[in-house]
Amino acid sequence: MDFKVADLSLAEFGRKEIRLAEHEMPGLMATRREYAAAKPLKGAKIAGSLHMTVQTAVLIETLVELGAEVRWASCNIFSTQDHAAAAVVVGPNGTPDNPQGVPVFAWKGETLEEYWWCIEQIFRWPDGSGPNMILDDGGDATLFVHKAVEFERAGAVPQPSEDDSEEWKIVLDTLRRCVGKDIRWSELARQIKGVTEETTTGVHRLYELEKSGRLLFPAINVNDSVTKSKFDNKYGCRHSVIDGLNRATDVLIGGKVAVVCGYGDVGKGCAQALRGQGARVIVTEIDPICALQAAMDGFQVTTVEDVVETADIFITATGCCGVITAEHMARMKHQAIVANIGHFDNEIDMAGLARIPGIKKQEIKPQVHEWIFPDGHSVIVLAEGRLMNLGCATGHPSFVMSNSFTNQVIAQIELFTKTEDYPIGVYRLPKILDEKVARLHLDALGVKLTKLTKEQAEYIGVDVEGPYKPEHYRY
Ligand code: NAI
Repeated sequence: MDFKVADLSLAEFGRKEIRLAEHEMPGLMATRREYAAAKPLKGAKIAGSLHMTVQTAVLIETLVELGAEVRWASCNIFSTQDHAAAAVVVGPNGTPDNPQGVPVFAWKGETLEEYWWCIEQIFRWPDGSGPNMILDDGGDATLFVHKAVEFERAGAVPQPSEDDSEEWKIVLDTLRRCVGKDIRWSELARQIKGVTEETTTGVHRLYELEKSGRLLFPAINVNDSVTKSKFDNKYGCRHSVIDGLNRATDVLIGGKVAVVCGYGDVGKGCAQALRGQGARVIVTEIDPICALQAAMDGFQVTTVEDVVETADIFITATGCCGVITAEHMARMKHQAIVANIGHFDNEIDMAGLARIPGIKKQEIKPQVHEWIFPDGHSVIVLAEGRLMNLGCATGHPSFVMSNSFTNQVIAQIELFTKTEDYPIGVYRLPKILDEKVARLHLDALGVKLTKLTKEQAEYIGVDVEGPYKPEHYRY
């Protein structure tokens, strides 16, 4: 088996944590039991690109239990938990000397060159066949195939231009190695039955591809299952934003002024968590609806410029670019903490910060850096501007990820087994399945659900068994 992880001797520790996580992931484990005999993913060859954590290990092993073959990379250079990666490679029945699990290409602290090499590997199947499904988080694996096909059709990978970002130059270098060589990318894309996408930012990319007529295969937007975005993005970040801040800095949050940029699902979770720690929380927004929500939830809403000199902690959660600029950071208080919890690292202008004449970068510990300005004051940047909850801590806990990943598994089964029901386009899972995911998590929390009578169901115009809400309901 080919694979590349940090250290297979960490597998035993990883396996112990996976065992604990399985108990906290009732939705995934129930899905395993439900489909154990039918093996609906038999024949599926899944190229997965999603943070290689303990929770993801349970997802991967669920896909395998359901019959799939899997190859995996992380979707971020800092988010891999090396013990989880090792345990997945070794597998439940293997040993470090005789790994029998799944080929994983991921370690914590990859360079960008290594990151894109890992993405390349999930498309390189040892028998030369390639995947027929993609499971993506943020859309990098999907982007890789689309660009490979585009450049294959054009006959060449373009040379980078001066204005291209460093990362895009690396993507082009990686593609130059792959396009027009051994893999026929157009054929590979044709055999892909679909992609299931985990996060808001990846979903944006999918809708852009669909809108411009360039989408090559069907996609299920897992993010907008209610049991994903209204749980993982909100309650997951409510947990892991504090975890990231504490593990990185251990600064007392109570009494500090914390700015949350963006009051979507992630921002709502972050703002609530910081308030829970006693911070005085300020929100920035561009959308009047979310701004009004923040105000009515009791948060001051203003602009970054208004508070840049007085706030202590800045968290970006927008999925947008250029939210905290180098100029902002130059004006911040001494040792203000700047961190991003959105998917990509362009919310904070790290390149602009590095270009400030005379600025010095001092590593406090991995993923925690003090940037010292020529006047002597400094800002502390977490995870180099990449998602701080996965870079500085361990991301979301198992229970909330069980909701997200049960949606992922159901979406993979849908696209793989009902391919003809999904012509090229971007879809969401039916509400009845969303409700099923929630239902699978109720017992573990001791929730007792009220059952509608037939008369009540008729009165509100729903079926006794659901779905209980119209599509336009917003929760
Ligand atoms: P969302 O679309 O619900 O919320 C983003 C909010 O930011 C919107 O309300 C938008 O109006 C606002 N916004 C956009 N540009 C802004 C600007 N320049 N200044 C202030 N506000 C601005 O998206 P969601 O689901 O909250 O996700 C946000 C990001 O977090 C995405 O990149 C997503 O992929 C990522 N994400 C990260 C997770 C993690 O564990 N770190 C988990 C889930 C999502």
